[in-house]
Amino acid sequence: MLAFPDGHPAGRFLVVGARGDDDLSPLDVNATRIQQGYFPDHQALAARGYHVSVAIDGDFDGALVVLPRSKQQARARIADAAARLVPGAPLWIDGQKTDGVDSILKELRRLADIDEVHSKAHGKIFRVTLPVENGLPPEWRSRPSEVAPGFVTRPGVFSADGIDPGSALLAQHLPDRLPTRVVDLGAGWGWLAAQALARPGLEIIHLVEADHAALQSARDNISDPRAQFHWADARDFTLPEPVNGVIMNPPFHEGRQPEPKLGAAFIATAARLLTGAGRLWMVSNRHLPYENVLAGHFAKVTEIGGDSRYKIIEATGAGRQAGNRGGRP
Ligand SMILES: C[S@@+](CC[C@H](N)C(=O)[O-])C[C@H]1O[C@@H](n2cnc3c(N)ncnc32)[C@H](O)[C@@H]1O
Repeated sequence: MLAFPDGHPAGRFLVVGARGDDDLSPLDVNATRIQQGYFPDHQALAARGYHVSVAIDGDFDGALVVLPRSKQQARARIADAAARLVPGAPLWIDGQKTDGVDSILKELRRLADIDEVHSKAHGKIFRVTLPVENGLPPEWRSRPSEVAPGFVTRPGVFSADGIDPGSALLAQHLPDRLPTRVVDLGAGWGWLAAQALARPGLEIIHLVEADHAALQSARDNISDPRAQFHWADARDFTLPEPVNGVIMNPPFHEGRQPEPKLGAAFIATAARLLTGAGRLWMVSNRHLPYENVLAGHFAKVTEIGGDSRYKIIEATGAGRQAGNRGGRP
């Protein structure tokens, strides 16, 4: 993170996209506002005493944008932060090489004054001073865009350009009639949940999603009153009553790192939310080793379809892992 030589820069400071464990020590907690829509990071920053919100409110005397992996989202973060700055205020950009900091720097050099370019281990930090009239292309701002008939997404959300092929395959393997109470863990912008809602049987579906922008898109995409939206961490998500169906296409990356533990935690949550007779349908990349985790939580695990890239799994008997006859009825 930035080392401001004279401590907190003067005035109100905005940080966009800081992660839960980022070192923000140069900044004065009371004069800093953080925008972060990813639930686990949002909670972690709030627990450290920062003022965190999912949207940017107010005007600022300076800002720092932490670049995400998606270029469109990077541009949107920069443009949305710039729109909140008082004229002439500095905008710092902090990015990893792997997140395309060099190409953003090149792009911004054509649009604004750049100085204070510092290289760090795996990236760069630099300062932009925008012209008084801002100068950034208006299309950089974050806005919903339609990627399939009736479905919008926002920059940076999972599969922002269209329907994920894994989810499309899972939808093909859902039964003709669904259980009455279903949870979609990691619901993204809602395409899979919408397919579930189109089948008979379903009375309520809970869409659980950590990315606020994805969940906001899901709200735009689904107006069915049977849908309930939860901005939450699927790993510790609970409901007052068990459900009899879970569908999911769990994430297997955290940032750039493959993280099968995340998928394993989703499987544990699915088992916790389901009745013993309830059923889980999930899709995963074929190479991911979820079999042991599934066998640890469900009595019966069956591969019901797939191709060279994906496998579709149905599991039932939550809480009664193979060889153990205990668990919920
Ligand atoms: C592989 S995508 C599937 C999205 C959606 N079901 C679809 O079909 O397009 C996984 C989703 O899980 C979300 N996610 C990641 N970590 C999460 C967490 N801890 N809790 C809830 N959702 C999470 C991601 O933001 C992403 O939208």
